[in-house]
Amino acid sequence: MPDVWDPAQYQRFREERTQPFHDLLALVEPRQSMRAADLGCGTGELTLLLHRTLAARETVGLDNSAAMLAAAPREAGLRFEQQEIEQFAPGEPFDLIFSNAALHWVPDHPELLRRLTAALAPGGQLAVQMPMNDAHASHRAAHELARTPEFSALLGGFEGRPPLLDPVRYAGLLRDFGFVRRKVRVEIYGHLLESREQVIEWVRGALLIDYQKRLRPPDWERFLKAYRELLLPQLPDQRPFLYTYPRIFLWGALP
Ligand SMILES: C[S@@+](CC[C@H](N)C(=O)[O-])C[C@H]1O[C@@H](n2cnc3c(N)ncnc32)[C@H](O)[C@@H]1O
Repeated sequence: MPDVWDPAQYQRFREERTQPFHDLLALVEPRQSMRAADLGCGTGELTLLLHRTLAARETVGLDNSAAMLAAAPREAGLRFEQQEIEQFAPGEPFDLIFSNAALHWVPDHPELLRRLTAALAPGGQLAVQMPMNDAHASHRAAHELARTPEFSALLGGFEGRPPLLDPVRYAGLLRDFGFVRRKVRVEIYGHLLESREQVIEWVRGALLIDYQKRLRPPDWERFLKAYRELLLPQLPDQRPFLYTYPRIFLWGALP
């Protein structure tokens, strides 16, 4: 599938998208000389911040999009790899596995968390943030459109629902995988956008990528037009528009 990630589109709401990163980072307990991995690191700008804040010995940013990694920053001890999170199986364990807004694209979370736990050193920490906004009209409209006969055929039946589990289930998995200290919380962000039209610009930067990469350009244009027509009447015409956005945070520390 083509790499349709567009750093410029993603960064249009940079401030709003960065706040959850800071909130996730605040959960991490800094240790001396940490070795950290940032899964789905995007442009690497926040990976650099992670690396510097923790004064880490080594930080590896991993992403499968060449476009996102194209301008990744350079710094001693910081490196980037183009790789699928599904293939992440490091030889040397990490003290921290960090992932901001990426693991909701990776299937089978019990298996994924088991694999990530296995990649942690004793005392290692897992820190994950994932958007959990499936109930919002912005997400429901995309899934609904993907289920229509026309787009279902073009998308090969792909609907785009993230493989997220109930928050309670994550708490159980962290316990089952041996995390002796754990935090699971859902926080509802309220992003103030200029108008309801801006919601479309927001979701084009991430949620709609999954559809865009599966459609030929003319079909994608029709999808976007139909999405707009389906979504906008469902949103109140308020300026600024409050885009509510729940996100789940998972943190655990091994003994
Ligand atoms: C919403 S962006 C988040 C980027 C960064 N973590 C941040 O907080 O700004 C999600 C990133 O995850 C990457 N990604 C999505 N699925 C992936 C996968 N299966 N393997 C590796 N990277 C993936 C995308 O390429 C994208 O750069």
